Amino acid sequence: MKIENLVRKGILEIPPYIPGKSKEEAMKEVRAPKIIKMASNENPLGPSPLAVKAINDSNLLNNLHIYPEGNSPMVVKELSEIFNIPETWIAVSNGADNIITLIGHSFINEGDEVIIPFPSFAMYNIITRIMGGVPIIVPLKDFHIDLEGMLNKVTKKTKLIFLCIPNNPTGTIITEKKLNNFFDSLSDNILVIIDEAYYDFITDNNYKDALHYIKENRNVIAVRTLSKILGLAGLRVGYAIAKDEIIDCLLRVREPFPLTTISQMAAVNGLRDKEFFEKSRQVVKEGKEYLYNELTKRDIEYIPTQSNFIFINMKKDSRVIFDEFLKNGIIIRPGYIWGYDHYIRVSIGTMEENRFFIKTIDKLLEV
Ligand SMILES: Cc1ncc(COP(=O)(O)O)c(C=O)c1O
Repeated sequence: MKIENLVRKGILEIPPYIPGKSKEEAMKEVRAPKIIKMASNENPLGPSPLAVKAINDSNLLNNLHIYPEGNSPMVVKELSEIFNIPETWIAVSNGADNIITLIGHSFINEGDEVIIPFPSFAMYNIITRIMGGVPIIVPLKDFHIDLEGMLNKVTKKTKLIFLCIPNNPTGTIITEKKLNNFFDSLSDNILVIIDEAYYDFITDNNYKDALHYIKENRNVIAVRTLSKILGLAGLRVGYAIAKDEIIDCLLRVREPFPLTTISQMAAVNGLRDKEFFEKSRQVVKEGKEYLYNELTKRDIEYIPTQSNFIFINMKKDSRVIFDEFLKNGIIIRPGYIWGYDHYIRVSIGTMEENRFFIKTIDKLLEV
């Protein structure tokens, strides 16, 4: 058998998604007394306590033989109340990752051009290539998504434009003024995806959310997740918000039972956990201020972030820096994977983790 003769065109050329190293993997490689992960922008406080309590108090484990409700109706209802939008504007699925996949399955024909910022979240490129679309890559400008550069790349073949706000891995946003101009210049045949996986960490008032543009009747899909702000990454809950006719397309290609009963229970209760939501925002805000201060004291350059991670210029090969942090028990993300050889992306942790990170920087700087 020759796999090349069987596999769909282009699949073997797709670069695989590289996740952050897990603690388990790291433990096999280094003998640090403890390992902390600051690599995948997870919630350092753990999961929403209300979500965990709801699962513990439920009888769900005795009902694992029953299929979940396909459309996650309670989650959809909760979201529609939170955002004050019709339920028909919402599609829930297993992670924002899967929402991005559904968008690709619904809208990308072979040969369609998809405009994608770089560096940004890898899944936009991957799904475009899986579908036989043509990724049109627009490099960031001064660490920000370059809207003008994207507009310059629009052709008759352009189908989708991906924006990531705040952008992963740089943490930058796009101001309302720039976004307004962008939408005013864009043709009606193009769908704009605004990935707001880190929306809840934004503190800058100059950003108007994707929902604002959806309400203005623009061709926009907002992509959101409960992985970060509610600490539910392990349960895989993401959702899309868009006008009904767009949501209808996503639901047609979605698998029948994307969320487990446990995920649905956790999502509904997590969304009601306002106290945890605020704590999650607060820990990031405090951690960010502490890290800014300590990095500035050491003359280490960073990109001001609107997210729960910071892009830091270590002025040294990020492969080497990655190994050095790992030896000291910290997993970070090396910037070379995004073409920024001297940068690292560090998730903001608890204050104890942030202090350990700074202590480790001092140790590395001494050498
Ligand atoms: C920008 C961005 N979008 C989407 C996701 C995927 O989120 P989820 O865990 O809901 O699949 C991530 C995960 O890190 C992300 O960084």
